[in-house]
Amino acid sequence: MSSPHTFDAVALPEGVAVAAGTALPRLDVSTPQATAQIYLHGAHVAAWQPAHASAPVLWMSGQSHFRHDKPIRGGVPICFPWFGPHAEDTTAPAHGFARLSPWTLCDAGEVDGAVTLTFQLESDNASPVWPHHFHADLRVTIGSILKLDLVVHNVDDAPFTFEEALHTYFAVGNIAQVTVSGLEHAHYLDKVAAGASRQQGSYAISFAGETDRVYMDTTAACIIHDPGLSRRITIAKQGSASTVVWNPWIQKARNMADFGDDEWPGMVCIETANVGKSAVRLRPGDRHTMSAAITVEAA
Ligand code: BG6
Repeated sequence: MSSPHTFDAVALPEGVAVAAGTALPRLDVSTPQATAQIYLHGAHVAAWQPAHASAPVLWMSGQSHFRHDKPIRGGVPICFPWFGPHAEDTTAPAHGFARLSPWTLCDAGEVDGAVTLTFQLESDNASPVWPHHFHADLRVTIGSILKLDLVVHNVDDAPFTFEEALHTYFAVGNIAQVTVSGLEHAHYLDKVAAGASRQQGSYAISFAGETDRVYMDTTAACIIHDPGLSRRITIAKQGSASTVVWNPWIQKARNMADFGDDEWPGMVCIETANVGKSAVRLRPGDRHTMSAAITVEAA
């Protein structure tokens, strides 16, 4: 594997530069279409704002760690190859090892003014509890739309199963005024009620307390309606059959060292995912792609 902390093997397109003086290596994008920041640590998209938006679309905690041994709190952490705590090993990192691993920039280009950066993670980052041979590519397209494609390739000689999520943190004006549509009638596991099975009604989700739900068999786009920031964010997806909706609310935010006590009203996670019964089984040689396309418009 090439050195994860260098960019010199790949020519950077116009508008992409290596950030100076950051604790972790980061690429900054600034084009007529959008600005963005992406860390090699976790192939983590930390910021994105298209030119037509008046505020950042992604949320980032002011208390986030930017350390090799910690996940970044905000932006788009990649959960892979398991979601939440590991089923058998409580010492394994929550949400898998991908968000704690250095990814390698392996390709960069520009099409119609949108920048595309591709990052790769390989099996030598795998953990003893998931010892499979794989390649994972995250292709990030930064333009007036943010597109994320996570491609997992089984380069092993045996099948393997994985979970995945683009654990996207969105900035909102005030969570109490936000609604999320697109999950009407879907069944979900309610993680704040010990995983109880529930069904969403015929109405959009609103938030009045800690919310941590895994919506199953959901392939439609979700829309965040945000009167506080006078905008609507649409998350369209492909290759994803689950959607996770999360806001920690007051107490859980206080319990997290990398989450400011007063930051929870300004965010919501809508996660494009394949988790639980939607875990992906891949045969040797096969690839699976999960994609999210995020757009923002004034409302
Ligand atoms: C969500 C989970 O996706 O991520 C929550 O559903 C979890 O249960 C949250 O609390 C944050 O996880 P972490 O590991 O980044 O603190």
